[in-house]
Amino acid sequence: MAKSLWNDNLSVSIPLIDEQHKMLLKHLAEFSEAVAAHHGPSEIVGTLDFLVDYMDFHFKTEEKHMRANSYPGIETHLKEHVKFTRTLANLGEDFKEEGATASLAEAINTMLINLFLKHIEAVDQQFGAFLKGKGVVLEEEA
Ligand SMILES: [Fe+2]
Repeated sequence: MAKSLWNDNLSVSIPLIDEQHKMLLKHLAEFSEAVAAHHGPSEIVGTLDFLVDYMDFHFKTEEKHMRANSYPGIETHLKEHVKFTRTLANLGEDFKEEGATASLAEAINTMLINLFLKHIEAVDQQFGAFLKGKGVVLEEEA
């Protein structure tokens, strides 16, 4: 079982978003470890498919609340989401073409996980502070 990359410094002060980040980081860590440990293709594809769906769901959640609250930083923020979606898709393609290589494991850690942690600590925390400043409380989605 992969250990989560979450720590409390990553909180954006909005519980709904924090919970989604925890879920994403847990599965990003699983993806990274499964590739590094050369787990079987079905396990890796399962993790990858989950990540593709969950990342899309999570980005749509953030986008929905940005629009609902007329967030001024929406354009730059959404551009970063598009980049992550493309990076994940590209790494998935690399896996399908070449399997669980050491360079893929390295790329997952640097191009996906480290950049996503930076995204949380920069633009997501800005967005969280904006919502908090407006007194917005986000409920768990049905
Ligand atoms: Fe974000």
